[in-house]
Amino acid sequence: MPAKNGAIKLVAGNSNPALADAIAAWLGLPLTRAIVRRFADMEVFVEIQENVRGSDVFIIQSTSYPANDHLMELLIITDALRRASARRITAVIPYFGYARQDRKAGPRTPISAKLVSNLITHAGADRVMTLDLHAGQIQGFFDIPTDNLYASPVMVRDIKERFDLANLMVVSPDVGGVVRARGLAKRINAPLAIIDKRRERAGESEVMNVIGEVKGYTCILIDDIVDSGGTLVNAADALLANGAKEVFGYITHGVLSGGATARIASSKLKELVITDSIQPTEAIRVAQNIRVLSIASLIADAIGRTAAEESVSSLFD
Ligand code: R5P
Repeated sequence: MPAKNGAIKLVAGNSNPALADAIAAWLGLPLTRAIVRRFADMEVFVEIQENVRGSDVFIIQSTSYPANDHLMELLIITDALRRASARRITAVIPYFGYARQDRKAGPRTPISAKLVSNLITHAGADRVMTLDLHAGQIQGFFDIPTDNLYASPVMVRDIKERFDLANLMVVSPDVGGVVRARGLAKRINAPLAIIDKRRERAGESEVMNVIGEVKGYTCILIDDIVDSGGTLVNAADALLANGAKEVFGYITHGVLSGGATARIASSKLKELVITDSIQPTEAIRVAQNIRVLSIASLIADAIGRTAAEESVSSLFD
């Protein structure tokens, strides 16, 4: 695909080198030589080691754990590229951390997702490309073009290959995720159920009401993030208690903090499928019931189309 804004350059931070390598391989381009390292006091230092003047540069960096370090790397790489006269800088952020802080959750609390968007813009990014944003409206936090890609084509392909679609039920683990789950259900022509979590009275434990008849179905829980694993594991228990035959999870961002991987290993979940938007740890790689799908080709396609000024949304038609 011919680039219209100068030669394409790919620069990787330290958050997900495996994904950056895979994207580069799909595009048939080398990663731009760059040093992204720490000084003794842990300040981030960046040096772009080749000419990027006039180039269309894509920085590949998820703001995953350790979120603050990886965010700072992204900002400083952007600054280095801007000062090196890159023609256009796109921050490719497969996992956009801080997205869950997208509103004032209580009095005197921040809207950190907006602050992070401001930081990325002020550092010098011209565009943002991200994947399965926690809430689509976060795109509006950026005053620069923002493409929110979807992992659903990759997941739908996998689901179609592995399951008998006639007996599948797509499930949203909470009311907030219904739009996302409904979108996937539509793509595979499956019915949709919803888990409604409620705390009837303060101090009482949450009740999980399953809305929809899941008895006898193979259930697929769809979500954007699996962090502690609590939402997923509790939802799987509720579905099985309501007669589901078996439960799988398809979740884009495997944050999997703390003991989440062990929690999922000892749960009743048959399998959790995540993407490589966040680089899987060794524990995830060896886990028996976690599988990783790559979104490298999807992102590579979107980068190619952005560089050629072609439609990105048509990737999801
Ligand atoms: C919440 O709104 C998100 O979509 C996820 O359901 C949540 O972040 C999952 O967190 P955890 O795995 O800690 O329950």
